Amino acid sequence: MKAVVFEKGKLLVKDVVTPKPKAGEVLVAIKAAGLNRRDLYTPGRLGNESEALILGSDAVGVVEELGEGVANWKIGDEVIINPSLRWYEESDIPPEDFEILSFPDDGTFAEKIAISAEQLEPKPSHLSDEEAAVIGISPLTGYRALFTKGQIQSGQTVFIPGAGSGVATFLIQMAKNVGARVIVTSRSEEKRKAALEIGADIAIDTSSDWQKELEHEQIDLVIESVGRATFNRSLAVLKKGGKIVVFGATTEDVVDFDLRQFFYGQYTLYGTTLGSREEFRACIEHLKEFDTHPILDRSFSIDEAQVALDYLKENHQFGKIVLTIS
Ligand SMILES: NC(=O)c1ccc[n+]([C@@H]2O[C@H](COP(=O)([O-])OP(=O)(O)OC[C@H]3O[C@@H](n4cnc5c(N)ncnc54)[C@H](OP(=O)(O)O)[C@@H]3O)[C@@H](O)[C@H]2O)c1
Repeated sequence: MKAVVFEKGKLLVKDVVTPKPKAGEVLVAIKAAGLNRRDLYTPGRLGNESEALILGSDAVGVVEELGEGVANWKIGDEVIINPSLRWYEESDIPPEDFEILSFPDDGTFAEKIAISAEQLEPKPSHLSDEEAAVIGISPLTGYRALFTKGQIQSGQTVFIPGAGSGVATFLIQMAKNVGARVIVTSRSEEKRKAALEIGADIAIDTSSDWQKELEHEQIDLVIESVGRATFNRSLAVLKKGGKIVVFGATTEDVVDFDLRQFFYGQYTLYGTTLGSREEFRACIEHLKEFDTHPILDRSFSIDEAQVALDYLKENHQFGKIVLTIS
C-alpha cells in the first residue's frame, strides 16, 4: 500500500507492507486524512536514524477487515479515527499508557491502517468525507480546552490568538454555538476577515496594541496555543479572576511572566492536551447538534504530502488541510 513515511531523516511517499489486523483490531481503508502541526514535529522527534514511521493522526475511511473478536463493527462501516489512544473516560489526566496516534505507532497517511476497534467512531452523518477526515486532534483538543477546562458559558467572552489555526477555527465555531462572544487575533488581514465570516465578533491584528483595542471588553477566558509570541499579551487582556487555557506553544515553549501580577490578578492557568473518548463523543454530538462543518482550507493528494506539510509549516492555512488518499 502507499503511505507517507518519515525514514532516516527523509519524508517519502512509498509502498509499504499492508498491515494485518490483530485480535481486537480493524483494518480501515482510508479515504482522506487531516493534517496537524504534530505531523511537522514528529520527524524532529524521530531524528535522522529512524526506521520508517507512517505520519498522520486523523482520518476517515471504511472498515475492510475485522481482527479476531471484533463484534462492534462490520465490513463496509464508515468510520473516523479517534487519535487519543487508550484514554476512554474523561479525567484530569490521561492514563499512563495514553499516546497520540502516529508516534510511536504508524499513523493515518496511508491507504490502510490496522487499529484497535476501540479507536473508531461512526463517521458523523452530516459531514462529507473531507470534513470528517479532520475530526480528530483539532476539534477534540478545542472541545476539552473550551468546555472541560475553560467551562465557557453563554454570554462570556473568549479570546483566541492565532485565528487561522486548525484548532482555533473549531474554537470559534463551538464558542459561538453556545452563545459566547469571540475575539480573535491574526497576523493576516485575510484570515481576520475569514474569522469574522465564520462567526468571530471581533478580529484584531496580532501586532496591534491589544490592551488599547480591547479596553472596553471583559475577557473571561483566553485559549492560548501560539506560545511565547503572545502569552504575556494574552494574560494582559484577561479580566482579573479570569482563566487561561494553554494547549500549544507554536512559537516557543519557554515564557517569562510576572508572578506578582499573576497572583494579584487571581488568574487561573490550565494546561490541556487532546482529550478522552468521552469528550471526543461529546464533541461529535456538539458538531451534529449545531450542524457545524469544519473549516477546510485546501486538499492535497497523498503524492503531494511534502507540499501539504510545507503549506502548513508556513502558516498559510485558515482551518484544516486534508490529504486525499483514495
Ligand atoms: N496539546 C495538544 O493536544 C495539541 C493539540 C493540537 C494542537 N496543539 C498545538 O497547538 C498549536 C496550534 O495547533 P494548530 O494545529 O491549531 O496550529 P496551526 O493550524 O498550525 O496554526 C498555528 C497558528 O499560530 C499562529 N502563529 C504562528 N506563528 C505566530 C507568530 N509568530 N505570532 C503570532 N501568531 C503566530 C498563526 O496564526 P495567524 O496565521 O492567524 O496569525 C497560526 O494560525 C500547535 O503548536 C500544536 O502543536 C496541541
